[in-house]
Amino acid sequence: MSLMTEKSPIQQLEQREEIVRVTNVEKSFGTHRVLEDINFSMKAGEVVAIIGPSGSGKSTLLRCLNQLEPPTKGTIKLAGIEIDASKNATKKQLTELRRAAGMVFQSFNLFPHMTALANVSLPQQRVLGRSKSESDKRSLALLKRVGLEGKADQYPVRCSGGQQQRIAIARALALDPKIMLFDEPTSALDPELGLEVLAVMKELAEGGMTMIVVTHEMHFAETVSDRVIIMADGRILEEGPSASIMRNPQTERAQRFLQAVKNR
Ligand SMILES: Nc1ncnc2c1ncn2[C@@H]1O[C@H](COP(=O)(O)OP(=O)(O)OP(=O)(O)O)[C@@H](O)[C@H]1O
Ligand SMILES: [Mg+2]
Repeated sequence: MSLMTEKSPIQQLEQREEIVRVTNVEKSFGTHRVLEDINFSMKAGEVVAIIGPSGSGKSTLLRCLNQLEPPTKGTIKLAGIEIDASKNATKKQLTELRRAAGMVFQSFNLFPHMTALANVSLPQQRVLGRSKSESDKRSLALLKRVGLEGKADQYPVRCSGGQQQRIAIARALALDPKIMLFDEPTSALDPELGLEVLAVMKELAEGGMTMIVVTHEMHFAETVSDRVIIMADGRILEEGPSASIMRNPQTERAQRFLQAVKNR
C-alpha cells in the first residue's frame, strides 16, 4: 500500500460506526436532579473512562445507558437501539439493549451455588438460547482468555476477588456484547488483585472492544482509555483525549479533583 492511501488514526476513527449517542440526558430521583445536560458520543472500538468525585452521577449515567435506570429526559442511542425518555421503551428494545451492553459492577454478583463454568454458561442458555455444550465450550474459551482455565469447576467462594471479577467479565463477554460498561470493577479489590483485572480490561481494549469504564484508577484512565470524561455535580465538566484531560484540565473544579486524587 502506498503512503498516500494509508489513513491516519483520526481518519480511521472518523470512518468507524457510531455506537453510542447520548443527547440532553437528565435524571432525577424525585426532586433530586443527579444528571443534567449530558451529551456525548462514541465510535466503535473507543475506550472512554469516566472519572469524578463520589456522588457526581457516574454510576447513574452507566445505569441510564442500559436503562437499568430510565433517564428522566433525553435520548440514548446504543448499538442502534434508540430510546427516548419521553416514550416508554418496548420490551424488545430492553432485551436487545441488555444483550448489546455487557455490564460489570464493583460487586461481582456471581451465583454462589454454581461453578465458574455454570456462572458463565447459564446466561448464554437463558438469554441467547445456546445449547449447554455450545455454551460450555464458549465459557471455557472465555475463562481461558481471562486467565482462569483452571478454575472452571470451582465455586466462587473458593476464588479470590480478582478471580471472581474476571469470571464476571467472562460472563458478560459470553453474550457477545457490542459494548462493555464497567462500574469501578477494581474498587472492592486489593491493589494486587485489581491489577489482574485491569490487565484483562487492557487486553480487551487492545482487542478492539468498545468500553466505558467508570474508574478511580487514574493510570488506567490516562494510559488505556482513548478519552476521559470528568463529571461533577451531575454534569460533564470536561471531555477529551486522555492525556490532555488528565495532565492539563481546564476547569478549576477538574483541577481540584485531579489534585485531590494525586494527593490521596
Ligand atoms: N436509586 C437512587 N435513589 C435516589 N438517589 C440516588 C439513587 N441512586 C443514586 N442516587 C443519588 O444520585 C447521586 C449520584 O449517585 P451515583 O451513584 O451516580 O454517583 P457516583 O458518581 O457513582 O458516586 P461514587 O463514586 O461514590 O460511586 C447521588 O447524590 C446519589 O445519592
Ligand atoms: Mg458509583
